[in-house]
Amino acid sequence: NLAYVNGEFMELRQAKISIEDRGFQFGDGIYEVIKLYQGRLFKLEEHLERLLTSATSINLNLDYTVNELKELCQEVLSCNRTNPRSKSGSLYLQVTRGEAPRSHSYHDGIETTLIAYLLPAKSISNQLREKGVSVITIPDKRWGYCNIKTINLLPNILGKQQAKKAGVYEAVFVDDNKVTEGTSSNIFIVKNGMILTHPANENILGGITRQVVLKLARNRFKVKEKPFTACDLYQAEEVFITSTTKEVLGVTKVDDKEINGGQIGRVTTKLHKDYKEYIA
Ligand code: PDD
Repeated sequence: NLAYVNGEFMELRQAKISIEDRGFQFGDGIYEVIKLYQGRLFKLEEHLERLLTSATSINLNLDYTVNELKELCQEVLSCNRTNPRSKSGSLYLQVTRGEAPRSHSYHDGIETTLIAYLLPAKSISNQLREKGVSVITIPDKRWGYCNIKTINLLPNILGKQQAKKAGVYEAVFVDDNKVTEGTSSNIFIVKNGMILTHPANENILGGITRQVVLKLARNRFKVKEKPFTACDLYQAEEVFITSTTKEVLGVTKVDDKEINGGQIGRVTTKLHKDYKEYIA
C-alpha cells in the first residue's frame, strides 16, 4: 500500500510526518474521503472542489487546481493497481498548513503537507443494511463552521466513541433542539410523507452523498431542506443517514425510541436502491 507524501510515494508503514506539522499539533488542516466503485473515484470533482473551498475557508494556500489534484489521485490509484483497495476502498486526502516551529499564528510562506493513500472498504454487514442501525442523540457543542471539512474532529470522535460505548452505530448532534448531522454522516427524516434534512449552512458539513441523495429524492418524493427537532426525529416515519462510505443507511432506533416499528421504511429502501443504480 503506497502512500503519497509531499511529492513522494512510500510504503504506508514508512510514511512519517514531522512532530512540528501543524496538522499534528493544532489540527490545522482539511481532508476528504472519496469512495472507489470498480476502481473509479466517485464524485471526484465535487470532493476536490470542496477541498479547495475548505482550504480557502481556513486561509490555507493550496497551490493546486482541481485538475492537478485529480492527476495526483489517479497516480495514487495507478501506484496501487494490485491492491484491492484501489477497486473498492476509499482515497483519503489530507492537507495541513505544514511544518513550522510551534506557534498558534502562522507565516504565509509555510509549505503545505499533502498526503494521500488508500483506505480499505468499510464493510457494513447485510444484517445492518437490512435491519437498520441504532443511533443516540448528543448535544452539538462544535464551532460555527461545520461546513469546513477540517481534521479538527474532537467533538466528532468523542461522540462516535459515546455511540460505540452505548452499543449503537452513530451519534447525532442536536443544536438548540435542531438536529444537525451525525458525527460522520448527514441525517434525513420522513415526516408526513415529506423528506427533511438540515439545510447546508455553517451548522453542517454539506455532504456529497447528501447532495446526490437530494437529487435522486426529488425525482420521486417531496423534499425540503429544513431543520427538524429531536421530537420530529423520534416521531419520524423513517430516518436514514448518508455518507461516502455508508451510502444510504436506514436508522430504526433513536435513543430508546423505535422508528417505523423497528423496520427500514419504503422511502429509505427506494433511495438506497436508486443510489446503488446511480453509482453503478
Ligand atoms: N465523513 N457530516 C460529517 C461531519 C462528516 O464527517 C461526513 C463524512 C458527512 C458526509 O459527507 P459525504 O457524503 O461527503 O461523505 C457529513 C467522512 C466519510 C469521514 O470522515 O470519514
